[in-house]
Amino acid sequence: MTSKTTVKTLLILGASGDLTGRLLLPGLAGLLATGRVPGLRLVGAGSDPWTPEQWQERVNGAFAAASKAADASGRKALAASAESTEYHQVDVTADGPLADLLARLEGPIAIYFALPPHVSQKACEVLRREQLPPGTRLVLEKPFGSGAESARELNETLATLVPEDHIHRVDHFLGKATVLNILGLRFANRFLEPVWNREHVEKVEIVFDEDLALEGRARYYDGAGALRDMIQSHLLHIMAFIAIDAPATIEERDLRDAVATVLRASSVKAPYKDSTRRARYTAGSLGDRKVPDYTEEEGVDPSRNTETLAEVRVNIDNWRWKGVPFILRSGKAMGQRRKEAVITFRPVPQLPVGFTGVDSPNQLRIGFGPDTLELHVDVNGPGNIFALDRATLLAELNEPGMLPYGEVLEGVLTGDPLLSVRGDTAEDCWRIIEPVLRAWGQDSVPLDEYDAGSAGPADWHTAVVN
Ligand code: BG6
Repeated sequence: MTSKTTVKTLLILGASGDLTGRLLLPGLAGLLATGRVPGLRLVGAGSDPWTPEQWQERVNGAFAAASKAADASGRKALAASAESTEYHQVDVTADGPLADLLARLEGPIAIYFALPPHVSQKACEVLRREQLPPGTRLVLEKPFGSGAESARELNETLATLVPEDHIHRVDHFLGKATVLNILGLRFANRFLEPVWNREHVEKVEIVFDEDLALEGRARYYDGAGALRDMIQSHLLHIMAFIAIDAPATIEERDLRDAVATVLRASSVKAPYKDSTRRARYTAGSLGDRKVPDYTEEEGVDPSRNTETLAEVRVNIDNWRWKGVPFILRSGKAMGQRRKEAVITFRPVPQLPVGFTGVDSPNQLRIGFGPDTLELHVDVNGPGNIFALDRATLLAELNEPGMLPYGEVLEGVLTGDPLLSVRGDTAEDCWRIIEPVLRAWGQDSVPLDEYDAGSAGPADWHTAVVN
């Protein structure tokens, strides 16, 4: 049973880093403005010698948009939080300073490790259970570890500090309204369930092509690449939501059990030159912006052969999905932004003789920004009434109320791990992609090239690995 205590202090480690300013604080601001976490104290800690004014400026800047959109009580909550916040320069990897800081803060505390995985590991190693105030929650940014082994080590270290339901491994895709909509779509509509299986589904594609390039993130991205950055956790979780059996409740235990069950049955099969593809962008343009060759980007080490576009075919070996390919793909610097899951159904068993035109398979497309839902069906077209034509039923879904980081933080601060990745699942996500990383490291799969701003390598004719 999860104990739901409300956190009194949110301590962000890595507070002077990019993630805190760009994503974490704006997400927190939206949440504070709702009034759902009253009286929360925000404390930042980082290795940089920031003055209180520098931190204040960062917080005010990051809160500005939410403050503008908020009502009077929301603005008041944001102002109160910004006024009472403080910053501490702390070396979190040294034995002592972090524990000293914790002793001075009001508990329960949520400690948010907005840090690279090896630094989080070190910071946790120097902490001891008795130094943590009762009810402490540990929040770990993605990537969780850098492989199955380091994820296991980190899990073991965390388990010495707090119970599993007080550990929040962040995947902000679990806070995206459209990703969560998959659950409502699947489990609150009778008509989908009978066809949601290998008898009726031909393939599932989950695509997250971005029209962003490296954007100055070489220090992190060049050591990660598209497979680790996007597929290892984000797209595998979307896949899991599409593939799970109906849980009895959407509470943390049932939902996370269902996700874990599906991921345990999932793997990428060898030979990897048939089940995976990878590529790296060369010079090109995105809109009117010139993009240099990836290897020319500042901070990139070309010898790492980091891929900026990755595609893998995942198999889910269970009764429902055996033999149905789940194609997961994500790329940077793509000409067209495409963020969607496409469920393609099998053709009808027999098209009555007499129809003309093209009988295309039904498709359900779930868009992750813009948030849309499309159902593609064949109907009798106009003109020749027995010529088939395509019709699309389109719904534009409501704008989400909160940013994904706000949703995830609400779970953290109110003591609900539902939208956090469970320890076994974090390890399993690595287990699924590690053989691919190994094969790519041994150059068993060619590293293709594509111009920035194009649709991918010229000879990737179809969107999927065959
Ligand atoms: C992050 C990745 O986790 O997710 C980025 O590190 C990616 O490379 C981002 O751009 C995509 O998420 P969002 O919410 O910006 O669509």
